[in-house]
Amino acid sequence: MSGHRVSWAIAGLGKIAHRFAEDLTKHVANGYLYAVASRSEKRSQMFAEHHDAEKAYASYQDLANDPNVDAVYIATIHPFHYDMAKLFLSAGKHVLVEKPAFTTVKDWDEMQNLASEKEVLLIEAMKSVAFPAYQSLRQFIRQNHIEITSIEAAFGNWHEFDTKQQIFNPDLCGGATLDVGVYPLWLYVDICHLTGSDVFPPKVNYWQDNPESEVDETIEFSFKQGIKGNIKASITQNLERSAIILGPDIKIIIHEKWWNPIKIDVFYKGEHRVISPAITGGGFEHEATHISELIINNEISSPLITAKTSRKVIDIMEQTLRSQGLGKLLARAD
Ligand SMILES: NC(=O)c1ccc[n+]([C@@H]2O[C@H](COP(=O)([O-])OP(=O)(O)OC[C@H]3O[C@@H](n4cnc5c(N)ncnc54)[C@H](OP(=O)(O)O)[C@@H]3O)[C@@H](O)[C@H]2O)c1
Repeated sequence: MSGHRVSWAIAGLGKIAHRFAEDLTKHVANGYLYAVASRSEKRSQMFAEHHDAEKAYASYQDLANDPNVDAVYIATIHPFHYDMAKLFLSAGKHVLVEKPAFTTVKDWDEMQNLASEKEVLLIEAMKSVAFPAYQSLRQFIRQNHIEITSIEAAFGNWHEFDTKQQIFNPDLCGGATLDVGVYPLWLYVDICHLTGSDVFPPKVNYWQDNPESEVDETIEFSFKQGIKGNIKASITQNLERSAIILGPDIKIIIHEKWWNPIKIDVFYKGEHRVISPAITGGGFEHEATHISELIINNEISSPLITAKTSRKVIDIMEQTLRSQGLGKLLARAD
């Protein structure tokens, strides 16, 4: 496929799909938006018109049947990720699936096996990791064999309690862990994997600010062994937006919003450097460019958004929710 541009499709045309389409169409050189699909014909047509996509499908199956689609970005809410991934992987499409990719390790393994069988990519859309600033930080840590001893990161925003919203709905995999906890857990596990540290099970506390709530609204993961980790997530509280990573010789501050890493301060052995490469889009262009490049080069995995880290994060989330009596939040919708 060398020299070609990857033909992308988007399945599930909600809020995040618009942001991805905006960056794909304006800021990605090696891929383009070819098709979109929604359960709603009207939504599909309007979306295709707005983002200038050639095909507008009113069924996901029709999209899967289109031989001109190379890669599908799954942008539905997470209870539907499994069925969608199965459909598109079975059709031989590369898949970029929004976070959290799946809610159980069993689903992750099954879909990874399917992707391997079909010789296509299955990657979780953890966009933070693909930002150039974060890539530079990773490179700096690896090249200098930096020892990391603690990580503090949170992701929390206040939302009015409303069970019609997916995040508060226990039947649609709601709750802070799955919605936003996935981001700081990813950061923690990624740095552990990068530095060769084992990931041990965290101690967990969770809170429900609204008495009628059936989901984890605020949650704290305390990693006491290996790299110390103070990881928090909330759908009912505004939390700190900078992440802090420490080691014996180093202090790293990923400035707000740390999950869109644009500016990183590194204080290392008495020197201060600022990592802030120029970026042009809204943040989705990095993952779309990276995955397009993998596809063009016939790669079968990403060295950046790794399957190993996705699997470990899903494992932590699943074990946590089960141990806190919140296992029902893991059930995917039929
Ligand atoms: N990477 C990021 O920065 C980021 C940010 C926010 C969210 N996300 C993730 O992106 C995914 C989508 O989030 P979103 O905020 O875009 O969601 P959304 O706008 O509420 O919904 C996205 C799509 O999911 C499908 N859907 C929604 N509710 C459904 C239901 N009850 N039954 C069946 N299908 C339903 C619809 O697809 P149709 O068009 O086919 O009807 C809808 O257009 C989630 O997994 C979320 O965690 C990622």
